[in-house]
Amino acid sequence: MEDKFIIEGGIRLKGDVRISGSKNACLPVLAASLLTTEKCVISGVPRLADVRTMIRMLTELGAQIGVQGSQVTVQARELQKTGQLQQYARKMRASFLLMGPVLARQGEACMALPGGCAIGKRPVDLHLKGLAALGAEIRIERGFVKATARQLQGAEIVLDFPSVGATENIMMASACARGTTTLVNAAAEPEIVDLADFLNKMGAEVTGAGTRVIRIKGNPSLQGAVHTVIPDRIEAGTYLAAAVATGGELRLSRVVPDHLRSMIEKFREAGVCIEEGNDELFVSAPQELRPLNISTSPYPGFPTDMQPQFAAILTTAAGTSRITENIFENRFLYTDELVRMGASIEVTGSTAVIRGVRGLRPACVKATDLRAGAALVIAALKAWGETEICGVYHLDRGYEDLEEKLGGLGCRIRRVTEQAANL
Ligand code: UD1
Repeated sequence: MEDKFIIEGGIRLKGDVRISGSKNACLPVLAASLLTTEKCVISGVPRLADVRTMIRMLTELGAQIGVQGSQVTVQARELQKTGQLQQYARKMRASFLLMGPVLARQGEACMALPGGCAIGKRPVDLHLKGLAALGAEIRIERGFVKATARQLQGAEIVLDFPSVGATENIMMASACARGTTTLVNAAAEPEIVDLADFLNKMGAEVTGAGTRVIRIKGNPSLQGAVHTVIPDRIEAGTYLAAAVATGGELRLSRVVPDHLRSMIEKFREAGVCIEEGNDELFVSAPQELRPLNISTSPYPGFPTDMQPQFAAILTTAAGTSRITENIFENRFLYTDELVRMGASIEVTGSTAVIRGVRGLRPACVKATDLRAGAALVIAALKAWGETEICGVYHLDRGYEDLEEKLGGLGCRIRRVTEQAANL
């Protein structure tokens, strides 16, 4: 039974929305809590399918988990082998984040290679090169990666590309290695800084997180830590886009405006009024959007995870916009669905050219991945009439309480199961 969303578009969103803790920050922090035998207390953890998957994996590895609202406690006194986790690896690429911590803690780790996904091939070669540089012996056999290391040793590692996941895996493994690791061309996303903060609380010495060079002085006996994950900048950006799509007005609370800098600049360039508070943002949409040129790049550049949502709002801009995707090779699948709703989009190679049309019309559309789903929700909010979106499980991976939050802003959205939809 698969859930669908039915959204009635054409309603201006208005009100307040509180942003949840970041999915992409809490997944590595949960994985890192395996690095100690002591208890870790993590707050601001969103209730999401990906988080549940990570918690299930930690449990299978032998960790004791407690969940109370948005607070999760993890205590991994003893760990089991990782062999039984293959089923999760196919479900969620972020499961590979357990490689570094389990290897560091156990001296060996075995994980299924994460498969390709709807947005691209997404190999893990950079993760593995980094772990090998720290002294791990890596073997790939029948779709599994086996890593062994008696004692990880700090090293200088230069990444060919500032991969977020590789940076996190290497940081976690080197946090309890002997000696110092220098990671050059590291990812600088806010989620990396959050992981560094957590590792520092555990007793590692991580400096330079948020820049391209990170130094990690390892500590073989890391301790428990108490941490609150940062707000989800992509969720925040998605609600800003939803407000803009409907000509609405919103106040977002529990945000870090600086984490959204490149998005805020693009919204403003399009004519959107955004005011910033300490941990809040106020957005009010213009009558008509100006077209934009957007090119995705690693942080602090424009995030790939926001390009589908911008594409959705630009479908009715006053002119022609261009979006160039530089991170993933196949991230325009959602444009076919937007075209079914009346958008004019042509994709050539890594660039989508979006010619603004007067309005979108409702249709039955399918989410192919998480952010594609967000783009379709935004398009549905614009289209007059009822749009049906299937593939809602993708949205459940990354947006906490989506119906409740949108409903609270005046949106008419309901979830139906396949059977109910056929009645
Ligand atoms: C993370 C985010 C995801 C976001 C992405 C880019 C999590 C759980 N997910 O994914 O939402 O879209 O960052 O901001 O935090 N690559 C390689 N070899 C590697 C690793 C990556 O070639 O070993 C390539 C990938 O195929 C991709 C690019 O590098 O083309 C970026 O990937 P990466 O930064 O690693 O993204 P993830 O960590 O998977």
